[in-house]
Amino acid sequence: MKSMHKKMLAVCIGVAIGSGFSVTAMADSAPSLSVINWWTAGSEAKAMHVLVQMMKAKGVNIQNDAIAGGGGAQARTILKTRLMEGQIPGAAQIKGVEIQQWGHTGLLANIDAAAKAGNWDKNVPTVVNDYMKYKGNYVAAPMDLHRLNWLWYNRAILKKSGISAAPQSWPELMADLAKIKKAGYIPMAGGGNGWMIATEFDPIALETGGPTWYKDVFVKLDPKAIDSPTMVKALERLRAIEAYTPKSLAGRTWNFDTALVAHGKAAFQIMGDWANGQFEFLHVTPGGQQVGCVAFPGTAKEFIYNVDSFIFFRQNTPAKRAAEIKLAETMVSPKFQLLFNKYKGSIPDLMNVSLNGYNACQKKSRAQFLVARKENGLVPSFSQNMSTYGPPTGAFIDSLDKFYTSNETPQAAAAAMAKRVEVAKSQD
Ligand code: GAL
Repeated sequence: MKSMHKKMLAVCIGVAIGSGFSVTAMADSAPSLSVINWWTAGSEAKAMHVLVQMMKAKGVNIQNDAIAGGGGAQARTILKTRLMEGQIPGAAQIKGVEIQQWGHTGLLANIDAAAKAGNWDKNVPTVVNDYMKYKGNYVAAPMDLHRLNWLWYNRAILKKSGISAAPQSWPELMADLAKIKKAGYIPMAGGGNGWMIATEFDPIALETGGPTWYKDVFVKLDPKAIDSPTMVKALERLRAIEAYTPKSLAGRTWNFDTALVAHGKAAFQIMGDWANGQFEFLHVTPGGQQVGCVAFPGTAKEFIYNVDSFIFFRQNTPAKRAAEIKLAETMVSPKFQLLFNKYKGSIPDLMNVSLNGYNACQKKSRAQFLVARKENGLVPSFSQNMSTYGPPTGAFIDSLDKFYTSNETPQAAAAAMAKRVEVAKSQD
């Protein structure tokens, strides 16, 4: 990784010098910026369209480079390939601790001017802002605030299975899954790929071990916490969920699963609230008559957060440089965040933006964020790259994928996970 970064830096600097920061470059009147992201689901594309339109009105063409693959593994690979080929995007979707890794490459642009204009220091919560700076300067802009620990459910299926209210505890969830299976519905949609399995495990781990253990594992990468009886218990719970998830859903995407719940084919989905946006896109309002949202059982007081952010690259013309500052300013503006987050299913990073027109689950999310922030209940999502850097995150996801798709015992999986994470720690 280190040598890859050096190589990218050399290629990109070469391209910048080759093109020359000349006065003629100032002549390009409608600058165009590529924005790399992985938002290909209907709701995601609709939300992203808001950005394209707003930037168009400001005289900047946004090339929406959406690369399929929930969780963004493919988008991140393509970003690196493009940089190696000397194609510098305007911005790219990179989140959490990984922003620091990108800072080391020397390729990122300082966007303090945008942060100053929008007073991000004051208007954006510190827990979000801290990720956006490299060595004290802003190099990334946040667009949303997602909550991971949700359980989405189809009300009619619960009713027809003899369940009167959404589950509030692990034993209740287990009892409900058994009833739904008996009634002939798919109890749990999920398990499509490694990233989805990790996303489902995220709240299960928090529920099993609580916030301190969660952070010991996924932030501190403590081998004793990873290879522990608590991890074994959490993995047993993942197995219990897996037993209610049809194997035929392997290879399916998260939004396919959301449609199963929306259309009365599956009872539950464990997913972050980008599913909320997708339900709305399918004309089903979560919190309304058909679909409900409840905190994943046992995590009502906590908020596993995921912030979508974009890093900015050093540009080779003054016009592009000016355009990227406009783009960063727009991403964190109240007008944009209000519309974008409505479609995305998340809430604005700007706590002073009103949630008028948002659904009940989004309103619950904001209320829960504020409570969790006060009561030490905020936890960075490991599955969405918020808790640690790339290689250890990959080690967790690979371990969970292997466990889920084989007969590995929870004990063996916990031990193997600790080993993989140790190896990953030495990689940059
Ligand atoms: C996450 C991203 C979300 C959502 C999801 C599925 O990593 O943070 O905004 O898009 O992937 O695509």
